[in-house]
Amino acid sequence: MMTNTQWAFTQEVHPNPTSIDAIAAHLENPGFGRIFTDHMVTARWTEERGWHDAKVEFRKPFQLDPACAVLHYAQEIFEGMKAYRGAGDSVLLFRPTENARRFQRSAERMAMAPVPEALFIKAVEALVSADKRWIPDGDGSLYLRPFMFASETFLGVRPSKEYIFCVIACPVGPYFKNGNSAVTVWVSDEYTRAAPGGTGAAKCGGNYAASLLAQAQAAEHGCDQVVFLDAVEHRWVEELGGMNIFFSMADGTLVTPPLNGNILPGITRASVIDLARNEGITVEERPYSFDQWCADVASGHLREVFACGTAAVIAGVGRIRHVGGELVIGDGTVGPVTERIRDLLTGIQRGRIDDPLSWVH
Ligand code: COI
Repeated sequence: MMTNTQWAFTQEVHPNPTSIDAIAAHLENPGFGRIFTDHMVTARWTEERGWHDAKVEFRKPFQLDPACAVLHYAQEIFEGMKAYRGAGDSVLLFRPTENARRFQRSAERMAMAPVPEALFIKAVEALVSADKRWIPDGDGSLYLRPFMFASETFLGVRPSKEYIFCVIACPVGPYFKNGNSAVTVWVSDEYTRAAPGGTGAAKCGGNYAASLLAQAQAAEHGCDQVVFLDAVEHRWVEELGGMNIFFSMADGTLVTPPLNGNILPGITRASVIDLARNEGITVEERPYSFDQWCADVASGHLREVFACGTAAVIAGVGRIRHVGGELVIGDGTVGPVTERIRDLLTGIQRGRIDDPLSWVH
């Protein structure tokens, strides 16, 4: 068993690393989640040995038994984070400890073995270091996907006795096809994402699987993301398919739904709240209903809406569609508050401006 101070990774030598020219071609227009780097980091957990066998290996498929627990009961969690090229030769990570801690909370909710914070951080650092050549310049970044799954070969319904923790990486550009332009969202009247007592606050694959049909309906209505309302009253705005949401009011206040146990506690969400408050903006974490959203658009009290997350960063929302029709927010483009928050956040993440809250690693 490895103790907290002993996270030494075995390093596999890649038999056929991607050439500099091929990497440069990939980085020209990487899109999101399609191109992967040469390496991955893995570690294993068993009841007998705890966390062990931490490795930087070349990226390859897992060999899983058809009775592998995750394939049947979806005991799986993940994280999303990004590495950026900083000044000189530096590489910057944004608040990685927050990801490590959320990963532990997700593990606890899904009855999985938590990954020690130090192992999580070292794994991410080891992968970034092995695949540093893949970090795009300019506005791109290296998206890191730590995840863990139940790897025991067993069909009984109980927590697995074996887990694999893995980190993979892919160079990415903007999450949405239209880059930083305003997106359109579809408010689902049919599906919900999470119910009280459920797994809404955990970053588990199952939450995303459950969102896909609603997300497909959003796409059928020409929308980029689905908005979920609460499961009990079907009234309160909770979150989007893969990001949190903020409302910017005419009096300068920012409103975002509270962390009620059904909403993913986004690290970008928390950072936006802290940054806005640091800028003197009032932020209210309070329930906000879809009816109020419509009324505030009609009265002009609501000026801007934006979505936020690691992958999406800050995405202005220009239009809402729902069974009753379409509403345009402001003039339908990305507003000045959204732009300001995005510039501040991305400036800090990329080391281009001061980091007043010491977030960069
Ligand atoms: C992220 O923002 O990192 C996520 O995990 C959400 C997903 C839409 C990519």
